[in-house]
Amino acid sequence: MVNLEVIYAGLKLRNPFIVSSSGLTNTVEKCIALNKAGAGAIVLKSLFEEQLDIMSTQYLKTSDYPEAEDYIKQYVQAERLEEYKTLVKQASEACDIPIIASVNCYHNGQWTKFARAIQDAGASALELNVSLLDTSKEGINVTQAHVDIVRSVVKELSIPVIVKIGENHDNLVHLVESLKGAGAKAVVLFNKYYPVDINIDTLQMTVGNIFSRKGDLSHMLRWVGVISGKTSNIDISASTGVLEWEDVVKVILSGATTVQLCTTVYENGNDVIHQMETCLEAWMDKQGFDSLAEFRGKLNYRDIEDQSFYERTQFMKYFTNRESK
Ligand SMILES: Cc1cc2nc3c(=O)[nH]c(=O)nc-3n(C[C@H](O)[C@H](O)[C@H](O)COP(=O)(O)O)c2cc1C
Repeated sequence: MVNLEVIYAGLKLRNPFIVSSSGLTNTVEKCIALNKAGAGAIVLKSLFEEQLDIMSTQYLKTSDYPEAEDYIKQYVQAERLEEYKTLVKQASEACDIPIIASVNCYHNGQWTKFARAIQDAGASALELNVSLLDTSKEGINVTQAHVDIVRSVVKELSIPVIVKIGENHDNLVHLVESLKGAGAKAVVLFNKYYPVDINIDTLQMTVGNIFSRKGDLSHMLRWVGVISGKTSNIDISASTGVLEWEDVVKVILSGATTVQLCTTVYENGNDVIHQMETCLEAWMDKQGFDSLAEFRGKLNYRDIEDQSFYERTQFMKYFTNRESK
């Protein structure tokens, strides 16, 4: 009998399928439906500090009292934080799977304030949606900035802290090691940046495709394999391009503990969770695996014979004989 249970960041999940932070997870009703559809855990839509500031600014534009800026900012923030706490509390009470809250801040002190409020509301864990894109000429120490945020939040909380990181860093192994040192229990590889595009008819900036496409998991697969092979005692959740059950098998073989689903749920509906689960069980049965632990990391950096599969960045001779049309 195949068993899909996993321990992720110290939380017991009935299966590795987590529905990731997005518009799919922003109401209690949607969480209840995902719980019913078989999700192992849910990450709520992120609470964005930036969005609270935008809301305050919009309110100020219509206000007769611009001098009340600080007061209005605090008022809008407190109100939105209350709404988010209500979502955390109601979703946690209504679902029998872990509800993971998510925050994104850009002022250092705000991370801890939001984190404490969310823990008090009953979240099972907190996912820090850290998205630092350094475009300065001088360059900042991005790893240290991540570590400072995580350390300050971990100090405040008793629930597990998970860090969702972007895919562009000098050295992801070092970053994950540093996050582990700061107290993170798991990392999510990777966050998706808001896609930039250009409309060549209107000559204006526009938003690109927000959903993943088949094959988009390759970059993430490399880093799950390398990090899980080099770093122990920190769980990895694979996010970006996990669209089909075969992708789930691949990322677990490369060392992921859980997968996060977003695009495929948007495109195929909640039923896709159960379909993936059934196919994963059938594959495990065929391969003779009773639990996920039996094949997790079997093909990670440490356990494969030819590590150049993970390290190779150049095509060299592989495509040299390919003809163009
Ligand atoms: C419409 C939409 C909204 C999202 N909102 C958030 C968010 O609030 N917080 C967050 O951490 N990630 C957010 N994401 C990113 C997803 O959680 C996920 O990491 C990303 O889409 C990659 O997974 P996928 O390939 O399954 O789509 C969003 C993605 C989409 C498509």
